[in-house]
Amino acid sequence: MRMLVTGGAGFIGANFVHQTVREHPDVEVTVLDALTYAGDERSLAPVADAVTFVRGDIAEADVVDGLVAATDVVVHFAAESHNDNSLHDPWPFVRTNVLGTYQLLEAVRRHGVRYHHISTDEVYGDLELDDPERFTPETPYNPSSPYSSTKASSDLLVRAWARSFGVQATLSNCSNNYGPYQHVEKFIPRQVTNVLDGVRPKLYGTGENVRDWIHVEDHNSAVWTILEKGRAGETYLIGADGEKDNRTVVETILELMGQEPDAYDLVTDRPGHDLRYAIDATKLRTELGWEPRYTTFRDGLAATVEWYRANEAWWRPQKDATERRYTELGR
Ligand code: NAD
Ligand code: DAU
Repeated sequence: MRMLVTGGAGFIGANFVHQTVREHPDVEVTVLDALTYAGDERSLAPVADAVTFVRGDIAEADVVDGLVAATDVVVHFAAESHNDNSLHDPWPFVRTNVLGTYQLLEAVRRHGVRYHHISTDEVYGDLELDDPERFTPETPYNPSSPYSSTKASSDLLVRAWARSFGVQATLSNCSNNYGPYQHVEKFIPRQVTNVLDGVRPKLYGTGENVRDWIHVEDHNSAVWTILEKGRAGETYLIGADGEKDNRTVVETILELMGQEPDAYDLVTDRPGHDLRYAIDATKLRTELGWEPRYTTFRDGLAATVEWYRANEAWWRPQKDATERRYTELGR
């Protein structure tokens, strides 16, 4: 099988390519990635011999058409992915997440290629802290930020192309990922690398916001389960029952790194900050038989801390510019 992975030099895409090369050696992988500030070809170095890498932009029809014509399946990870950036400048989010997805959908329609769309639980908006409900595939879309609204838009394009044009598409909406190769702008890598630099972690607002953490390997094993067993036109929610408030996550990082648990600072909140996400992954577990492997968050987090400790050469080049952007935002 020939597989085109968009965004394969980003955090989840690179981990997906590693997992695919390791566990599905019969698959011929081509990565299409624009190498924006968030993409890093070095994340693919361990599998470089087994993968074809193409630097290119998913919003450009010609680039996309030729590559889609030469593949059997597209797994679409490429996106502008950071909420804080989308509040500062929404345009790249509209261009890549909406227009880029449109170009891919038109190409898979023309060439009759199978398509899997990677999306986020943020399309559903947020939940109250004490709400007993969690997100299900039936939850109405209600995105809050420019990032999540462009992801919601792209999901709706996928559903329409599946229904109206018969495109063989599946869709997954996952909760917050953690693990190796995540950009230092994101919550967990930012705090871990701050502590390594002797800087106190920074919690937005009161730190009460809840995210539903899943190890990136579990997200990607779920994507593979959907590729192998999912039904065309269906949406699957991916989550591993990992709800934690941000304060608890920071306290755990500090403890794992030998610091006092209260050695963090509260900083200005993110505008429109979603309070809580929580995924009900019953459909994926019961219909497709998927189960996560990283069931103890503390262990997965400890391994992630060790990865950042051991791989300073990977994250160091991004650290200063990232912190300068946060300083401008007052966070
Ligand atoms: P990331 O920002 O780490 O990586 C995105 C990748 O896409 C980068 O390599 C970048 O160079 C590439 N890219 C951006 N614009 C492009 C363009 N126009 N053309 C080609 N390549 C382009 O993102 P991530 O955290 O790995 O997220 C991957 C996908 O998973 C996204 O669709 C995101 O919405 C989704 N998702 C992320 C999470 C999470 O917790 N990180 C959770 C659920 C869903
Ligand atoms: O839920 C899935 C989403 O998870 C994905 O769709 C996004 O691509 C991904 O970036 C992530 O979005 P979040 O906004 O939840 O992730 P982020 O890492 O930016 O922040 C996680 C939480 O931590 C959030 O409540 C904001 C908070 N935070 C973040 C940073 C960077 C802090 O308290 N301090 C920080 O320094």
